[in-house]
Amino acid sequence: MCGIVGYLGDKQATDVVIEGLAALEYRGYDSVGVAFISKDRAGKVVKQAGRVESLVPLVKQQALAGCHISIGHTRWATHGLPNSKNAHPHANNDNTIFVVHNGIIENYQELRDQLIKIGYNFYSETDTEVIPNLIDYYNKKTGSLEQAIRDTLNDLSGAFAVAILSTLEPDTIYAARVSSPLVIGVGENQDYILASDPNAIMEHTKKVIFLDDNDLAVIKKGKLKISDFKANTAKDPKVELLDYDQEKASLGDFPNFMLKEIFEAPQTIKTATLGRVLADEGIIKLGGLESINAQLRYIDRIVIVACGTSYYAGMVGEYLIEELAGIPVEVQQASEFKYRHEPFSRSTILLAISQSGETADTLAALEKVKDFGCLRLGVVNATGSSIARLTDAGVYCHAGPERAVASTKAFIAQVTVLTLIALYLSKGEHKSYRKLLKELELLPEKAKAVLDQANEIKRIALKYKDSSEFLYIGRTILYPCALEGALKLKEISYIHAEGYAAGEMKHGPLALIDKNFPTFALATNSAVLEKTLSNIEEIKARGGPIIALATLGNKKIQPLADEVIYLPETLEQTQPILAALAMQLFAYFVAEAKGLDIDRPRNLAKSVTVE
Ligand code: AGP
Repeated sequence: MCGIVGYLGDKQATDVVIEGLAALEYRGYDSVGVAFISKDRAGKVVKQAGRVESLVPLVKQQALAGCHISIGHTRWATHGLPNSKNAHPHANNDNTIFVVHNGIIENYQELRDQLIKIGYNFYSETDTEVIPNLIDYYNKKTGSLEQAIRDTLNDLSGAFAVAILSTLEPDTIYAARVSSPLVIGVGENQDYILASDPNAIMEHTKKVIFLDDNDLAVIKKGKLKISDFKANTAKDPKVELLDYDQEKASLGDFPNFMLKEIFEAPQTIKTATLGRVLADEGIIKLGGLESINAQLRYIDRIVIVACGTSYYAGMVGEYLIEELAGIPVEVQQASEFKYRHEPFSRSTILLAISQSGETADTLAALEKVKDFGCLRLGVVNATGSSIARLTDAGVYCHAGPERAVASTKAFIAQVTVLTLIALYLSKGEHKSYRKLLKELELLPEKAKAVLDQANEIKRIALKYKDSSEFLYIGRTILYPCALEGALKLKEISYIHAEGYAAGEMKHGPLALIDKNFPTFALATNSAVLEKTLSNIEEIKARGGPIIALATLGNKKIQPLADEVIYLPETLEQTQPILAALAMQLFAYFVAEAKGLDIDRPRNLAKSVTVE
C-alpha cells in the first residue's frame, strides 16, 4: 500500500526520490517523507501529512547543499493516524538511523515494550518505529551496523519491505523484504534506485533486480551485495529488463489516469490477444500454458482466488470456463480462501488473478497451497511481480501500468485473458469456438463504439450524480459485471452502490426501490433477456428509475427504462467486456461531476500489500 523509494548516485538524491514518490503516490497518499545525508554528513528528515507536492519546497530548502543518498516514503496508514508524527521515515532516539517501511510488523508491540524497558522512547503510533531503535540496540551491542540490521530483520515477524539509511555509514542504503515487493534499478553511471514498485524506476533505467523474500541488499555507489538474511548466504543479483513502456505510463492529454486507462480499452484487448488468437487457423496460442499441457489433461477443478475487481473478473471467468471447457470452477475471495478448510486435490488448479501481482491476500492464498502439489497459475498484469514469480505458469495481461486506484483496463484485460484460457482449455471442441475467435478480433472496434458514446453516458451520469444509493442488476455472465459496476461507482464517487443477481430482486432488494433509488440494469440480448425485462418491469412498477444497458436494435427496452445505453451486438461471452466499459465511463463521469479525486479516491490505495 505504501511507496518506498531510495537513491544513491551522482544526481541530487532528494530530487530523484521525490519524483519517484510522486510516481508511486497512487499506492498510498496519507503522508509523505524523505531522509537524506547532506554533504556535511548530517542526517536530515523532512516529513508531513499530505501529498508529495506539499513536501517539495521543504526538502529543496533543507537539501540546498546537495546530497547523493536519500530514502523516501508515501504512506497508507495501517497503524496510527495519517499525520506528520506517524509519517515515515522513522528514526532511532539518537537520530542516526532512518527507516521507511511497507507492510505490517506483527510483533511490534512486544518489541516496543522490550525496548522501552531498556530505555528507548517512542513518539509515534506506528509499528515501524521499533525498527530503527532495534537496529540501534543491536549496533551498540555488536559494533556492526550490517550485523545489527540482520539481527533486527530476524527478530521481525509479518510482511514488510524496508529501506534503511544511517549517518553511521553515510554511503550505504540497506534494503530488505519479506512478502512485500522491492526492486533495485541499476543506473548507467553506477547509481542505484530502489523502489517498492517499478513505476518509480522506469524513467531512470529498465535494468532491475527484483529482491526475493529474505533478501538483504547492501547498496553502495557502484557496488551491490545481496544475501539471504535468514540463511546468511550470499546471492548473485539477477538483472532483468522491465518491459514497461514509459509512454504508456504517462498521462498524455488526459485529465487523469482513470480516463486514460478506460480509453485504452481497444488497445488493451488487442495486446491481450496479440499473437494468441489465430482466428483463420482456429488456434489459441498461450505460451505461458504450453509448458504444463501434460498436467492440464488431468485437471478436474479450478479454484480462482482474487480480490476486488480481479475477483469479479474471476467470476466472469467461471462462467466462461465452465461453459466453454466443461471444467467445474469455484471463485473465492482470497481473504476468505486462506481460512477455509476445503479439500484440495492434485487435480485442482489454483488460479490467482491480480493486476498488481502484489495483493497480500492473493499471495497468501498461493502460499497456502504451496505444499498441496497442485498447479498454481496466474493471470497477472505486472510482470515480474511477486504473484507472477510464485506461480508455476500463467498468462500475462500485457495491459501496461495501471495507475488509477480504480481498476479499469486491467478488468478488460483479465476478462479477455480468461476468455482465451477458457477457449484454450476447450481444445476447440465447443460449438462457439470459431465464432468466439472471430469475435475477439472484432472486439477492439466494438469497444471503441462504446467509448464513442462517452458524451451520452456523461449526460446520463449528470442526471443521476446526486443519487445516494444505486442498484446494479444482471443475470448469468452479466451478474459479476453488475457487481463490478457497483464497485466502480462506490469506490470513486462514494455513492453506496450494490450489485445483485437480477433474479434475486423479489427475494428482498425490491423493498429498497422507490423514485430516489435508481437501478442500473444489464439487459443485453441473451437467453435470459426476457427474465431481466420482467425484473425491470417490477422495478418500474415501484417507481424506481432505470438505466438499462441494451443491445443495439432492442426497441422493447425503451418504454421500460428511463435511459438506455446501447452496446454493439456481440456474443454473450464477450458482452461483459463492453458492459464493463460503459459502466466504467458512467462511474467516472459521476465522480468527475462531484469534483472528487478520480485517481486517488479517499481511504484506498492501488495495491493492497497488507492483509
Ligand atoms: C478495483 O478498482 C480496486 N482498486 C481493488 O478492488 C483491486 O481490484 C483489488 O485490490 C485487487 O488488486 P489486484 O488486482 O492488484 O490484486
